Amino acid sequence: MSEELVVRRISNGTVIDHIPAGRALKVLRILGITGEEGYMVSMVMNVYSKKLGKKDIVKVEGRELSSEEVNKIALVAPTATINIVRDYEVVEKRKVELPDKIEGIVRCVNPKCVTNAPREAVHPSFRVISRKPLKLVCEYCGEYLTEEEVIAQLAGT
Ligand code: CTP
Ligand code: ZN
Repeated sequence: MSEELVVRRISNGTVIDHIPAGRALKVLRILGITGEEGYMVSMVMNVYSKKLGKKDIVKVEGRELSSEEVNKIALVAPTATINIVRDYEVVEKRKVELPDKIEGIVRCVNPKCVTNAPREAVHPSFRVISRKPLKLVCEYCGEYLTEEEVIAQLAGT
């Protein structure tokens, strides 16, 4: 069955396609989309894909997401493509690109890190030292964060 029969095409907005199967909720979480914003969001999980076997898709109507907003989803969806849709046509298509720095999305796993101190207003900040496999290093204490830890932290949406 074609994906079109599962979720309809959108008139204007952003389609995040080729998300690894099962990761759509984590993508929404990274984007900070809760549904309370009011615009229409549709999502399919575990649909058939020629390239990936199975994939997830997220469609956000009425909002064109900027590269900056979207690139951080590469943490959990490095295969994702971003399609900007205007008047039903895809006018722009690009792959996500993990930024060199990740701020405020995941926490440092070192309990003694200043970013975990209860009264400090220091936001976690990581440098990407490996993309495949994903590996981050805390800019404050040097602790590493692995792909598994990133995925685990973003679970439970
Ligand atoms: N899409 C949509 N609404 C539109 C146009 C496209 O929801 N008005 C979705 C399609 O369903 C698809 C994605 O946006 O999931 C990309 O569309 P398109 O480039 O037409 O599809 P493909 O050529 O299959 O994309 P790719 O080559 O990236 O796999
Ligand atoms: Zn740290």
